[in-house]
Amino acid sequence: MIFWRVKPLNQILETAEKKSLKRQLGPIQLTLLGIGAVIGTGIFVLTAEAAQKAGPAMMVSFLIAAVVCGLAAFAYAELAAMLPVSGSAYTYTYGVMGELIAWIVGWALVLEYAIGATAVCVGWSGYMNGLLMHTDFFGLVQPGALALPEYLRTGYYSGGGFNLLAFLIGAAVTWLLVIGTSKSARVNAVLVAIKIIALTVFVALAVPAAKSGNLEPFLPGGWGSPMGGAGVLGAAASIFFAYVGFDAVSTAAEETKNPNRNIPIGLIASLLICTVFYLLVGYGAAGSIGAQPMLGANGLPLDPGTPEMAAACVGSNALVCSNEPLAHVMRVLGFEQIGNWIGVAAIIALPSVILMMMFGQTRIFFTMSRDGLLPEKLSNVHPRFFTPHVITYITGIVVSICAALFPVGKLADTSNAGTLLAFAMVSVGVLILRKKQPDRPRPFRTPMAWIVCPLAVAGCVLLFANLSVIAKVVFVLWGAIGLVVYRLYGYHRSQLAGSGH
Ligand code: ALA
Repeated sequence: MIFWRVKPLNQILETAEKKSLKRQLGPIQLTLLGIGAVIGTGIFVLTAEAAQKAGPAMMVSFLIAAVVCGLAAFAYAELAAMLPVSGSAYTYTYGVMGELIAWIVGWALVLEYAIGATAVCVGWSGYMNGLLMHTDFFGLVQPGALALPEYLRTGYYSGGGFNLLAFLIGAAVTWLLVIGTSKSARVNAVLVAIKIIALTVFVALAVPAAKSGNLEPFLPGGWGSPMGGAGVLGAAASIFFAYVGFDAVSTAAEETKNPNRNIPIGLIASLLICTVFYLLVGYGAAGSIGAQPMLGANGLPLDPGTPEMAAACVGSNALVCSNEPLAHVMRVLGFEQIGNWIGVAAIIALPSVILMMMFGQTRIFFTMSRDGLLPEKLSNVHPRFFTPHVITYITGIVVSICAALFPVGKLADTSNAGTLLAFAMVSVGVLILRKKQPDRPRPFRTPMAWIVCPLAVAGCVLLFANLSVIAKVVFVLWGAIGLVVYRLYGYHRSQLAGSGH
């Protein structure tokens, strides 16, 4: 009996009206929120990790991940348009599969959003540390004079001490979120423009420099390995992170004007725009300077983020060894200054990704506490800024501390594990609802749902299986903790406890 305490959809819509957030976002703002959430550490930083696993075939990995996200985006659009309330996958599952599954999904979304935000903080700090180490700030200082000491540049679990800049950016974004969505959305629009310009310049310079010889051998890492974490599929599972975030658009549903129309537009437009950019960037990077992995003694690509990989990279100029791969490609092609400026663009713009991911996280916690599954105090709205400030502070503290300690690649994989569960559940939810409530108005209908949704689920399972082992283990442990928390708290305190649903 796992499908219990299903929350009636009309009740979901009513609850949202009782304690609601102000509707102020339109379709362009939503698409910008989507792009703001999507283009980030994935393309700017993890491209090197994908190349290490897949070689030039990382382009195929980009495509596989895009297809899985695209299929799930239709499912998200259908449910978000039917239920334009906060909470995204969590809320939808509550209304379709009941409280237990909803709790599990909400708990998994903490991985997606909070750990995802953490990964981007770490990616940002990589670019910022690079800038502090390499530029002279227009001749004002000696190159490297402002560089932080080694132990403050990377986290403890990446072989450093305390990643100070990752911590500080997490704290700064928390403050932006507390002072309000509309201000944050305006800042976001400028940052999105910067990212788009940076990627456009990259594509314009790298693609014409591409030579087919650089794409050979195309498939040095094979398709995958039984344990996951390698080959084209392993790279797809990791680079999936580059697409994560478009679903954050749906978490803003309750703050959206005319959500029935605008949410599907925001979701699908942002995903399409990002996919086109990623394919061009992947082709430009691999085609212009090559993307061959560092091989171990067994002739197979080394696992990125390991001491062996670090040792193999000493003195190497390879794409797969760079912490700032897009800037690196530009420099290798002779565009030294443009490389630096791309680094600056990443530094200015990645915070918009952190912002959107933390925004998503706070809105999901907000909804869960409104449902009684988490303490009600968490959903208190700030009297002046109208934002759920308590939960924003808590999320911000956790994100900042984790960002100071852990490595980017493993954080991204862990985030992906949570996201894949949510995507799969949303796709299943669409089908269950089509059966259970066929006549309910659907402002947006997934085309060929009975083909698209099962394919989305299959894609999620495939990518999950190809995540690195550590991410899968963390996912299972996190899920187990979640079940204990639910049994001890939410099970008794839920708004639906004793309501007969
Ligand atoms: N998709 C976001 C990124 O690439 C999370 O950073």
